[in-house]
Amino acid sequence: MNESNPLLQIKDLKTYFFLDEGTVKAVDGADLELGTCSTLGVVGESGCGKSVAARSIMQIVAKGGRIVSGEILFHHQLCKPGTDRRLSEKEEVIDLAMLDPQGDKIRSIRGAEISMVFQEPMTSLSPVHTIGNQIGEVISLHQKLDPKQAREKAIAMLDHVGMPLPKRTIDRYPHELSGGMRQRAMIAMALSCHPSLLIADEPTTALDVTTEAQILSLMRKLQDELGMSIMFITHNLGVIAQMADRVAVMYLGKVVEAASVDTLFYKPLHPYTQALMESIPRLGAKKRRGERLASIRGSVPDPYNLPKGCPFHPRCAKRVPNVCDREEPPNLKVDQGHEVRCVLYK
Ligand SMILES: Nc1ncnc2c1ncn2[C@@H]1O[C@H](COP(=O)(O)OP(=O)(O)OP(=O)(O)O)[C@@H](O)[C@H]1O
Ligand SMILES: [Mg+2]
Repeated sequence: MNESNPLLQIKDLKTYFFLDEGTVKAVDGADLELGTCSTLGVVGESGCGKSVAARSIMQIVAKGGRIVSGEILFHHQLCKPGTDRRLSEKEEVIDLAMLDPQGDKIRSIRGAEISMVFQEPMTSLSPVHTIGNQIGEVISLHQKLDPKQAREKAIAMLDHVGMPLPKRTIDRYPHELSGGMRQRAMIAMALSCHPSLLIADEPTTALDVTTEAQILSLMRKLQDELGMSIMFITHNLGVIAQMADRVAVMYLGKVVEAASVDTLFYKPLHPYTQALMESIPRLGAKKRRGERLASIRGSVPDPYNLPKGCPFHPRCAKRVPNVCDREEPPNLKVDQGHEVRCVLYK
């Protein structure tokens, strides 16, 4: 296996929420591809469908929502847990979009092959169980280990993610830990079965800069050791520059541009990507931590009434009258590995 082999291919994915107020097309024809042992950064303003796309992969879309159509092809490497996936010689391709969200197949994949860390650790940690019991449960669910072995593995995992005093921390409840420690516990849980794909949805936004740097370097280290791929969702383009090999830019449920990280930073083509890049605070300018990308003209439209044509055209400085407001731009391959949805490049 090498880095150019795909691990995950999302094709024309649509995930909608059916509410009394109307239908929210949270993900509306998104295409994404993630290579083995590589990191895909996913960026875009708030409400563009990044989290719903991530949750669709895991089949954990919130109530009221479901995958309407599209494919999520997961190239499952058949090898022993804990061994380097790049050395695997056999694979089976599973369309995750077709699986029953409550079924056995997705349960065997979730947590073991694909796991997710969230911005808020309490999304995945239970307040009424100790850290050790929770990590142990995940381990014994997917690996044939007795409780004692599972506990030892959990301690080793906590140690691995840099948790101070893992032998003591393991018996603590989440509320007894600091934010950074909870984040580490969640990452330890997510990595305890050596997944081939880690989905990280703003995993470090709530942390201080030092802890953030430690957690990012830990993820890269584990990626290297385990041959793991990472889908990294963030508003922080600085983190993207550090972490990602490729970047996908989402706008209103679609991927409007995808390219290697260098191409995206130095040669962004889509007017939306260009605007995002311009919103990066310049060196020397004061930036408040956690500040959202807010300096693009106008705001994301009401999700119940999406604009006709290109979804970005009402805010786009380069829109072509009578074209962008009428036809939806196709996904154009402009260069090797560089795709953009914009008529300017037709
Ligand atoms: N449980 C839900 N019920 C109804 N609509 C939802 C639900 N979750 C998300 N949505 C809608 O789906 C769209 C995409 O939301 P999503 O959470 O994926 O955005 P995001 O890109 O992750 O934003 P952020 O950067 O703020 O996390 C939004 O319009 C949002 O309001
Ligand atoms: Mg989100």
